[in-house]
Amino acid sequence: MKYSVTTSSVLKAKTDWLVVAVSADQKPDVLKGLDSDGLKLIKDVLATGDLKKKAGSALALRSIPGLPAKRLLLVSTGEKDQLTEKEFRALSSTILKELRSGSAKSATISLAGIEIEGRSSDWLVQRLVIDAEYSGYKYDTTKSQSAKSSLNQVAFIVEERKQLNSAQKAIAAGMAIGSGVNYSRQLGNLPGNICTPAFLAKSARELARKSPKLTVKIIDEKEMKLLKMGSMLSVSAGSAEPAKLIVFEYKGAPKTEKPHVLVGKGVTFDSGGISLKPGAGMDEMKFDMCGAASVFGSMASLIELTPKVNVVGIVGAVENMPSSTATKPGDVVTSMSGITIEVLNTDAEGRLVLCDMLTYAERFKPQSVIDIATLTGACVVALGGPATGMFSNDDELANQLTASGEQSGDRVWRLPLWDDYQDSLDTPFADIANVGGRAAGSITAACFLSRFAKKYNWAHLDIAGSAWISGGMKKGSTGRPVGLLVDYLLQKAK
Ligand code: BES
Ligand code: MN
Ligand code: ZN
Repeated sequence: MKYSVTTSSVLKAKTDWLVVAVSADQKPDVLKGLDSDGLKLIKDVLATGDLKKKAGSALALRSIPGLPAKRLLLVSTGEKDQLTEKEFRALSSTILKELRSGSAKSATISLAGIEIEGRSSDWLVQRLVIDAEYSGYKYDTTKSQSAKSSLNQVAFIVEERKQLNSAQKAIAAGMAIGSGVNYSRQLGNLPGNICTPAFLAKSARELARKSPKLTVKIIDEKEMKLLKMGSMLSVSAGSAEPAKLIVFEYKGAPKTEKPHVLVGKGVTFDSGGISLKPGAGMDEMKFDMCGAASVFGSMASLIELTPKVNVVGIVGAVENMPSSTATKPGDVVTSMSGITIEVLNTDAEGRLVLCDMLTYAERFKPQSVIDIATLTGACVVALGGPATGMFSNDDELANQLTASGEQSGDRVWRLPLWDDYQDSLDTPFADIANVGGRAAGSITAACFLSRFAKKYNWAHLDIAGSAWISGGMKKGSTGRPVGLLVDYLLQKAK
């Protein structure tokens, strides 16, 4: 998609769709100078009350006298002067649904009258671009027919010339974040028989080839054995697909600057292993690599935006399967850190992958480490889709992530990591068990990880509820939390 920004009048826009905001008093102010036949037509249409006053409602008109635009979309901004963010999301989604519904190629969106509580007009442009990119992605890789929308050009009209420069930057940021989000969604949506650990390793090499600032190293099982990653390897033990450890390095700042590390859970299919999952909905465990996908997506955004920051991305890619070589409940494995782990449940495999990645991360002497994982069903129960569960051993890091969540609309909610929860991981047969009791499942999972993240500032993001939409025709990866992570890393580059 091509984007532009201008200050020229809506009355001059030669476009397939002109989008104009209408306030509660039903006056489309920007159309003031339109010729009288055109104005009368619009007034008469509005007088019918067909355009609902609820923010995000819309009415599509065609062939307005005096207006060069082929179609006109009137959208309500509601009863108040400013939109809430939820109202803005509704407005943005109505607009994009309409723009993409037919054969239109171009659109011009007037931003006059669209104001959001506490947000700048640049924020609004960036968000509209991200939304436009998001709505332009449709999974079709394994479909024999594809239906792509024809929209390929969007222009924004701002009121003042001094807005042009920063709006242009907002467009660039929105495009980079949008394409990172969509890349992440695509990897998430691919079926487990295509998106294997080896496929992720190949994709990582392809991504790194796109920029001199990005390098990648793939560590195979043989080398993992040398590194003593016994915990990670215990997860791939039952699978015919060999595990891959993928290490990205994005170098945007001088070497002397310590990196921020992202660690992604990349379980390309989670059957549960010997502790086999029930059949219903098991297909959705192809999304168990969405943490890894968010690392890929973030790297893709970084190489487009080239911020001055160093970022390491570590992905543990592995398939969790039952077989005669699989790890069994009661088996004890030794992690890279030396901590021994009793595997009481082979379906609590994410933490077994992450713990070795967290130990591996130490060698980068990181400023911060953030792991991203579809870790617990309990997190879906606790927070559902709107918020990612966050845990951290550092208040400043937690506060920064909370702020980035608000800024990007990709929100997190902090849950406690108190010592009181740690004892549930005690076992007579190893240093630590891989599961606690039934209670507080997301917290005890985070407690497990915290044992391996003592040497740096660390946050754990449980995206089990936010990474994909479950069931039905809406089923699919959301690309979260790429928006959150990129915002956080851009803040670090400032
Ligand atoms: N990948 C799952 C977590 C999950 C389940 C995410 C459902 C999204 C939806 C993870 O590997 C898992 O199986 N966790 C277990 C842990 C339990 C055995 C302690 C769970 O949540 O049931
Ligand atoms: Mn599992
Ligand atoms: Zn899993």
